[in-house]
Parts: sequence; C-alpha cells; structure tokens
Amino acid sequence: MSNSTAQPDPKHADPTAERADRMKRLSIIPIWNTSGVAEEMGYKARGHVWRWRDLHAEFEEAVKTSLAGPGTERRILLFENPGMPRSAAATPTLNGALQMILPGEVAPAHRHTYSALRFILSGSGAFTVVDGTRADMHELDLLLTPGGCWHSHAHNGGTEPMVWFDALDTPFVSYMRADCFEMHPSKSLEPYTNTVGSYEDIGALGMLQGRTRAQPPASPQLVYKWAAAEAMIQAGLDRDDDDPYEGVVYEYVNPITGGHVMPTIACHVNGFRKGFHSKARRRTSSSLCVVAKGSGATIIDGVKHEWSERDVIAEPAWSWCEYIAYEKSILFRTSDQPILEPFGLARQEDHPNGRQ
Ligand SMILES: [Fe+2]
Repeated sequence: MSNSTAQPDPKHADPTAERADRMKRLSIIPIWNTSGVAEEMGYKARGHVWRWRDLHAEFEEAVKTSLAGPGTERRILLFENPGMPRSAAATPTLNGALQMILPGEVAPAHRHTYSALRFILSGSGAFTVVDGTRADMHELDLLLTPGGCWHSHAHNGGTEPMVWFDALDTPFVSYMRADCFEMHPSKSLEPYTNTVGSYEDIGALGMLQGRTRAQPPASPQLVYKWAAAEAMIQAGLDRDDDDPYEGVVYEYVNPITGGHVMPTIACHVNGFRKGFHSKARRRTSSSLCVVAKGSGATIIDGVKHEWSERDVIAEPAWSWCEYIAYEKSILFRTSDQPILEPFGLARQEDHPNGRQ
C-alpha cells in the first residue's frame, strides 16, 4: 500500500510547528516564548474613558424600549475594557458599571461574596438597604455594600430616574473561584429596621454602638457624604497642600480601623486646582476614576484621554498616569490597592523625566 499524499514528509516537517503542537498536547508553555501570553489571556487592559453623555443616551433609549421597561430589575451597563475583549471587566480585578432605576422600581435583595460600592451620579428619591439598614442615595455620596451583606435598591420618591456608578471586585473573586450568590427569601426589598445616619452613627462623637465592635473586615459606615469629601479637598487646596503627582488626595477609611473601606477595594478623592498638571506616576494597582467635578484630561501611557463630569476613566496597573485640570476638578477613585498590600505587591514609581 502506498503512502497518502496528505502525509507530511518527515524529512521536511517544520520542527517549530511540531514542537508547538507537542507542547500544546502536553498542556505546557515554553517560558522562552511567553511574549504573547498575557495578550492572549486578554489582560492588556488599556486606559479608557466611558463617557456620561454616551451612556446616558443608552439609558434613555433603553427606557423607551420594552427590553428595559418598568419593573426591570437590572438596568445595568457593564464596562468592558477595550484591551480585554470578552472579559466583561473594566480592569483585571474590577468591574465597573452604570445602573439606573426608575421611580416605583425595586432591585430585589440578594447577597454575594463580591464587595461593591455605589457612587451616586444623578437623580433623587432612591435608597439602598444593606443588612436591614436603609441608606438614602444623594448625588456624589459613596455607599458601601460589603461582601456577604444582603442588599437591595428601591426608588419611591419623585419622578427622576436614579443613576449611579457601581464598582465591584468581581473579576478578582471569580478568578479565585470564590463566587457565591444568593437571592433573599423576600424576592423583593429586604425589610429594614434602621435608617443610617453616617458619621453620627459611627464614632464621630468618640462613641460607637456596641454592634459595631465586632470589627468587620469592611467599614461599618455605609454612607460617606460628598459634602465632607469636597470640604476636605477644598481645605487642602486652600492651604496649598497639593502633591505634584496626585493633587490634594484623601482616602475614605473604615472609622474603626483607619484602614481601607473594604478588604479588596479602596476609595480616594483627588482634587486638582485649575491649571494643575501633575507629574507622571505608575502603580501596580488598577483604578476606576469617576469625574465628580470639573473637566480635564489624564495622559495614560502617552495617550491623552479628556474627561468631563460623570465620565469614568480606567487606569490600568503599571500605566504612567498624568493629570491635567482645565478647571478645579475632583476625581472619585476606586482601586484594588488592598488586594496587593498584604503580599508586598503595592508598588509605585515616579517617572524619571517627571512627565511622559
Ligand atoms: Fe449585588
């Protein structure tokens, strides 16, 4: 019997291709040829801006359609970093999204191992319930939903839609295969017994409610008022307390420990005076920044990304970042810094030339 013409001649076989096939069958990667591995994994997150005007237009369109009519419980626009296709993630560790609920709607109660936060962008009359405590939503306030807490949202006031920015550690938790998700038996709004104050409840007077002494891994303070954050930034600007890399910067903290607000997510505000142009710095943490006030640009790895109020900017890990403020501006920043710190992986480097 003669050989088939389709069979390769062993004398002329491509040894490189043969080796690649063999290694694929063995489920191994030769580490002398790994230049494309990270790219294949889709982990080349890029600097990117999700623009408020574009996303808000999508919400308006969705509200007009039957796909997202009254009673829709999850009207969410999830950000996907353009450098990470099919990841449904804004950075390798963080999810970002805008969420909208309309008057009369309820997002049913559930809990999960993901830690989440809401930064309120527009509207009024909605509230969230976290483990039986109600917290009203007001523009630019920060609301926490620590991992494992029951939470639901409802809108029972006024006629305006309520829109907020969500950030979660979902990509990190999923990578660790630590996802757990559970619907609340009520299948609706979780009953609530408390209405949260904020500082008044959590130690601002030098006293703590007994129930807060358990020192949970996340901050027991569920609401951080914008007025306080803005006042701190303004005070810093007034006394010329600008850092050349970050402007005036404050962190939202767990009032009991002084640490980050949640075990996997940190929150900061950066304030820039008009005309500020920072020096360039890069960090091993990834950030999502919401433009709370003002307008300007962030130069990320040499690319200028302009922004205005309510836009959201992705700053990938180890990317050079440089800030320019066209007017007095404040960014709300959420990052994965707490994930890195316990392992000695939280690093930063200042650009040797100052700017890119
Ligand atoms: Fe949730």
